Amino acid sequence: MDKQSLLKVLTRAGIGSRRQITEAIKGGRVMVNGEVITAFNHPLDAESDDVLLDCKTVATIIPQQFVYLALHKPKGVLSTVRDERGRRTVLDLLPPEYRRLRLYPVGRLDKDTTGLLLLTNDGDLAHRLTHPSFENEKEYHVRIKGELKNDEIKRLEGGIKLEDGKTSPAAVKKLKDAGYNYSITIHEGKKRQVRRMFEALGHFVIELKRVRTGNLKLGSLKEGGVREVGRGLLKKI
Ligand code: URA
Repeated sequence: MDKQSLLKVLTRAGIGSRRQITEAIKGGRVMVNGEVITAFNHPLDAESDDVLLDCKTVATIIPQQFVYLALHKPKGVLSTVRDERGRRTVLDLLPPEYRRLRLYPVGRLDKDTTGLLLLTNDGDLAHRLTHPSFENEKEYHVRIKGELKNDEIKRLEGGIKLEDGKTSPAAVKKLKDAGYNYSITIHEGKKRQVRRMFEALGHFVIELKRVRTGNLKLGSLKEGGVREVGRGLLKKI
């Protein structure tokens, strides 16, 4: 983490006005790593230095910069933070300015699934979005060989019995897209759910891409690319 001045970090922490903080520093009421510091420009590592104001910790209340990123995950990349076998993960795709923000993926896509993946360092939001009680819609484009029969579409929409339970109602549409022939919208995130739903009907999924979760769309984001997402768009994802 880059060092920033004590005054700047404390001002950003929202614990008082700049003038109040200036006075607190001047008055010897601020300690950094056990030492009273009276220099405003004392270099501080906001992540690891221990800062006390009037004997109370402030390091923990320095607001983190929350970032929400939409990433277009390419094939062959793991949606984890690190891999013991050294395979490429989504973090390897991030531009350098995002590398230090401790972002991690919200939910997962299989290694061979492409498309929309949200990354954030906002733990509360990530927790809410991945909790099973939170039924956010996820739309996928699917390529299979051949076509689905009408009764197969009905079965996908009504729920397919998988070994870990029946899937909840889904919506299936035929697509006129060169690479994908169906769209399916589901509300849960069982492991390999879409692939297993199609496999249960004897259709092997050749390509799978997530194009939307809730209000958030993949849009024209290029494979491997990222774009920041406003907090407002995530309210209903
Ligand atoms: N369903 C799947 O089968 N795979 C994914 O990656 C996401 C949904």
